Amino acid sequence: MPTITVIPGDGIGPEVTREAVAILDTLGLGLTFDVLDHVNAGRFLATGTALTDDDVTRVRDSAATLLGAVGNPRVTSPEYARGVLLRLRAELDLYVNLRPVRLLHERLSPLRDGRRRDLDCVIVRENTEGLYTGIGGTLRAGTRDEVAVDADVSTWLGVSRVIDHAFGIARRGVCMVDKSNAVPAGGRLWQRCWRDALARHPQVPARHLYVDVAAMNLVAQPETFDVIVTNNSYGDILSDLAATLGGGLGAAASGNLNPATGFGLYEPVHGSAPDIAGQGTANPVGAVLSAALLVEHLGHPDAAEAVRVAVRTTIDDGRCTPDLGGTLTTTGAGAAIRAALG
Ligand code: NAI
Ligand code: MG
Repeated sequence: MPTITVIPGDGIGPEVTREAVAILDTLGLGLTFDVLDHVNAGRFLATGTALTDDDVTRVRDSAATLLGAVGNPRVTSPEYARGVLLRLRAELDLYVNLRPVRLLHERLSPLRDGRRRDLDCVIVRENTEGLYTGIGGTLRAGTRDEVAVDADVSTWLGVSRVIDHAFGIARRGVCMVDKSNAVPAGGRLWQRCWRDALARHPQVPARHLYVDVAAMNLVAQPETFDVIVTNNSYGDILSDLAATLGGGLGAAASGNLNPATGFGLYEPVHGSAPDIAGQGTANPVGAVLSAALLVEHLGHPDAAEAVRVAVRTTIDDGRCTPDLGGTLTTTGAGAAIRAALG
């Protein structure tokens, strides 16, 4: 029986994760759950460590991990998120951040203008390098002469493997996004890896866009995108834009994957939303669709598709939370999805 480690986290994390786990239970796939509900801001504040070596071992020993969100207004230190999410991404080498977005319903498109605009794309974000490695530092801090440097790290291996993953999952084509016209060294490396990947995957339609143009086209012509592959920071930003175009942050799913080992950590794109935590209004769809990605990667594509269909059915019927135009609570929306699963 595959074990899933569950890290509910903070704020609305536990509220939406509870619904996602209930859906996984309903699927009857024989999954068992190892819930690490002590990995949260409270423990970080009390002990300085939210995720211990023992917790990492439990994650490693599991088939996959489902995470809610971590973050609490009482914790100002970046070491908290770094010690949980970034630690797991780095130690398990989860080098692909996969963020699929589909427009869930016409009424949810901020671009509704009578013209149908489809959106069904996947953002493949490089997840271990780029601007988020923490390499850099500050000189003469706090003075008028302060110098701040955050290195933008790209490696041949890191870029090549994430581009290859994008080609591997493409249905209609791959679009590589960079800023090689303005970021010379990293841009040159991305361009070289891209050209080499084109030669390895000659059968897949492929194109390149600069990130500013890509942002513009995502809004103006969302239907022209299938798989977008890009670096850590551009992927972070473009996927929030795409999430908004697809129905909002509360509905966006993601997976942090190591395609080489098969391990994945799945989490909604949103954070812990302290502004609505405890009110029972958090949308569970992002967490539920992340759970669908999880079962898909465990080898159950039919179960994953059933969950997606159930989610769309409830949204079509307006049986959803207020952010999607419904009136249901978090638990009510979760129950509606389970009911639609039949
Ligand atoms: P957020 O995603 O938590 O919230 C942004 C806005 O979207 C808020 O108005 C919130 O109410 C709304 N929202 C988010 N999820 C929703 C849902 N499921 N249903 C309905 N509305 C929803 O981002 P924010 O406010 O920037 O960050 C809050 C905390 O979460 C911070 O501590 C941040 O560091 C952390 N965070 C954690 C992430 C993670 O664990 N992967 C990712 C992003 C933020
Ligand atoms: Mg983000």
